[in-house]
Amino acid sequence: MTSTTSMTIDIQDQYLLGRTSAEYQRLRAQALLWEVSTVRALQAIGIQEGMNCLEVGSGPGEVMRLLGTMVGPEGHVTGIDIDERLGEESLHILKTTIGPQFSFQALDLETLPTHLPNAPYDLVYARLTMIHLNNPVAVLRHLWSFVKPGGTLLIQDYDMSYVHTYPPTWATDEFERVLFQTFDISGKDYRMGSRMPGLFVEAGIGAPTNTDIYGLIEPFQKIYPMLVAVYRSLLPAALKMGVTTEQQSNRFLTELAEQAQNRTYYTGSWPLMIATWKQKVG
Ligand SMILES: C[S@@+](CC[C@H](N)C(=O)[O-])C[C@H]1O[C@@H](n2cnc3c(N)ncnc32)[C@H](O)[C@@H]1O
Repeated sequence: MTSTTSMTIDIQDQYLLGRTSAEYQRLRAQALLWEVSTVRALQAIGIQEGMNCLEVGSGPGEVMRLLGTMVGPEGHVTGIDIDERLGEESLHILKTTIGPQFSFQALDLETLPTHLPNAPYDLVYARLTMIHLNNPVAVLRHLWSFVKPGGTLLIQDYDMSYVHTYPPTWATDEFERVLFQTFDISGKDYRMGSRMPGLFVEAGIGAPTNTDIYGLIEPFQKIYPMLVAVYRSLLPAALKMGVTTEQQSNRFLTELAEQAQNRTYYTGSWPLMIATWKQKVG
């Protein structure tokens, strides 16, 4: 099986969230938060030992870890990400802590080759990746071509329109405004999860076999660190686009911190995590 690649990708891509150590840490924390939803979706599609899987946008490798544990040493998990440094680092951790059933290739999903290592796959999977792409329909079409007859394409992505607090405040409304406008201006859809079933049809894959929606509501104090981390990751792009200013963002961060210390109970809603899948006729 293929292990690593020496290919170097220029990652001055259009990824809105940046590539700092703080962002890598945020990705790992975020991955753990969604583990229950991912296990539920993987069980629904019938994941089994020995399966050959592809994860696209594998980033910190937490989904690869989950998949590798579920398919076991007889199976295989290939990860693809545009970020070679993060992918190679994650591969090293997976191989040393779990086993040899992993490989990684640095590739840009928007320009995938017609052949991928270890293809075709029993499962082609993406979580929180399609939301960052410019041409999700073209990428879906390509991913579908790598699914074995009888295999499954499974996509999990956010509908971020559901992020809010109750009661609402200026700061949480401001968070949504900056997030949504930055995505809008960059031509990316912050409601990608809700759009996905329609995109399957548009890509010629057909109506999904099924979907699953997972939501989480927690005390505001618990979602506060993630809101700040997402905001800080997004801020350079938002400032560049003129969506906010240094002064406005400082006011936002101050008010949000005050809100987190306030005794009032604010209900914090995470984005909805929506799974869409299709099994290929065998
Ligand atoms: C939010 S992270 C999700 C990581 C992982 N799937 C998870 O759920 O924990 C999105 C990942 O997609 C990758 N990505 C974004 N655009 C990409 C592209 N055009 N080609 C390949 N990977 C891309 C990023 O580098 C990042 O690692």
